[in-house]
Amino acid sequence: MAGSRDVHARAGRADGVIDYSVRLRPARWWDRWFVLDLRNDPDTRAVGINAQPVGAAWWRCVKPMLAIITAGSQSYRVGYLIVNTKCEISIALSPTFRGHGLGTIALLLARQQYGPLTAYVKDDNLASQRAFVKAGFRYVRVTPDYLVYEMA
Ligand SMILES: CC(C)(COP(=O)(O)OP(=O)(O)OC[C@H]1O[C@@H](n2cnc3c(N)ncnc32)[C@H](O)[C@@H]1OP(=O)(O)O)[C@@H](O)C(=O)NCCC(=O)NCCS
Repeated sequence: MAGSRDVHARAGRADGVIDYSVRLRPARWWDRWFVLDLRNDPDTRAVGINAQPVGAAWWRCVKPMLAIITAGSQSYRVGYLIVNTKCEISIALSPTFRGHGLGTIALLLARQQYGPLTAYVKDDNLASQRAFVKAGFRYVRVTPDYLVYEMA
């Protein structure tokens, strides 16, 4: 299960440079609706391995494998990642927080925390591919449905 570590991400944007403090923490019961809403968001489902909506049974199953991604001094929830028993990682950020470098930092933290990981990414999900590569993963092979990334 995820513990807590802090790093600072510097994300440059047209309106300046923002410093974020990004942290992974274990999921708690009160994170349930945050995670389910994000997981069931149509855009998130469209890029995931399983596009079907999920509910309470999924939450109970993945909760031990979930880490909540928080950012800022108030530890605001910005997304989650899941590392399953086969060390396969998946990640989702709330739409508002995408494209600011937070996903890359969360993946770097996951590398430190969990050790060797594998990711399955759709070939049209360029943002995800780029974030994994920036976090030190490398493309290793293709399956009929996904590009496979492992830690370099
Ligand atoms: C994938 C995800 C976690 C990445 O996190 P993020 O914080 O948005 O990504 P980052 O800002 O760290 O980096 C994204 C990179 O992709 C690039 N990118 C974004 N959209 C892109 C696009 N359409 N085409 C090419 N590159 C793109 C960005 O420019 C950035 O690269 P750069 O820093 O070299 O410019 C996040 O976007 C997300 O949650 N997406 C929806 C769910 C998802 O796709 N999950 C992964 C399933 S495998």
